[in-house]
Amino acid sequence: MPSLRGRRVLLGITAGIAAYKGAELARLLVKAGAEVQVVMTPSATEFIGPLTLQAITAREVRQSLFDAAHEAAMGHIELARWADVVLIAPATADVIAQLAWGTARDLLTTVCLASEAPLVVAPAMNQAMWRHAATRDNVAALLRRGVDIVGPAEGEQACGDVGPGRMVEPVEIVAALGARFGGGRLAGRRVLLTAGPTREALDPVRFLGNRSSGKMGFALADALVGQGADVVLVAGPVALPTPRGVERVDVESAQQMYDAVFAHVAQADIFIACAAVADYRAANVADKKIKKDGTETLTVELVRNPDIVASVAALPQRPFCVGFAAETDDVEAYAEHKRRIKGLDMIAANQVGAALGFEADDNALLVLWEGGREALENQPKPRLATRLVDLIVERFDAQTTAQDS
Ligand code: CTP
Repeated sequence: MPSLRGRRVLLGITAGIAAYKGAELARLLVKAGAEVQVVMTPSATEFIGPLTLQAITAREVRQSLFDAAHEAAMGHIELARWADVVLIAPATADVIAQLAWGTARDLLTTVCLASEAPLVVAPAMNQAMWRHAATRDNVAALLRRGVDIVGPAEGEQACGDVGPGRMVEPVEIVAALGARFGGGRLAGRRVLLTAGPTREALDPVRFLGNRSSGKMGFALADALVGQGADVVLVAGPVALPTPRGVERVDVESAQQMYDAVFAHVAQADIFIACAAVADYRAANVADKKIKKDGTETLTVELVRNPDIVASVAALPQRPFCVGFAAETDDVEAYAEHKRRIKGLDMIAANQVGAALGFEADDNALLVLWEGGREALENQPKPRLATRLVDLIVERFDAQTTAQDS
């Protein structure tokens, strides 16, 4: 079974008898780790019930371009952008013709026209229709545009004919998809990362915390999965959904984060410390709510928390270690110092202060490693995360190659 871990597959099902195999195809895609969104043409529902596909993919099947509720939630353009790959299986002679002409008469063809994702088509039709000059021309047009055509297979057809036109088996379609899109520069690698703030309890209702939103760490987890990595995300308390294909471990305090990291670090090839970990915790956590009791001041004694990333970097068998540095001034000098004293392979530094860094949607980073640096300009965190992952992969590969030789 190939891995499609974290890949977003938009599965288009059109009106052919092979549509009944759509259920098996969707099941295999989900089993391979893909997130699957089914889009059916209206007549395809004559061959297989949308409810079956919804149960398998855990996503409501989309059928209409004119569905106000769906358009408000994830409109057809968003759907087109969401997909990493669009797969149409079975693809009838009619949908192939529509794709060749670039029409947008229903949701599926509109999404295909609006999507920049690669398109894979598994034709299924009567052998005479497949051989027809019109279909040949349409298929040739799609091939010229770089569309992948998987099949059709030869054999006995539902109509009794024998010849080319059967949809290739779902298992083969998934294998073809895996071969084309299953890779990624971190395929087979395990990445452990921390994200978000920590909360250090003072009493049962109060804590010391910080403004970290977790957005950068979550965007990184998503980008790492996009490169095929197995990702474990140790997250402090944040209000963010778990990125696709990520194993998430929720924690509150720095000590819990430390414990969760050390429970997973032995398997990790790369460790990224993106969390804003509290440096101190209360020496004594009150077991009852602290009362004012008429006093004007309150003194809380704080003790140091373990430094998670420095502890990981000090392990004899350690993963490639990436840290972050949030600085208000003299960013490069402080960040490089932090990289060295913590023993990190790479550090991503950003300037924090008014409207920068923590709660913002955009960020800029200065990335430093032994003998190199690269400034990543201010941009939305998801795009920045993709760029940072590229740099991490480059340095990680360079180090692994150097160690192997
Ligand atoms: N970090 C960590 N464990 C801690 C504190 C920090 O793993 N207990 C990690 C952060 O996730 C980040 C890096 O260390 O990757 C830098 O953290 P930062 O708070 O900026 O550095 P400090 O060492 O705390 O330095 P200072 O607060 O003095 O700037």
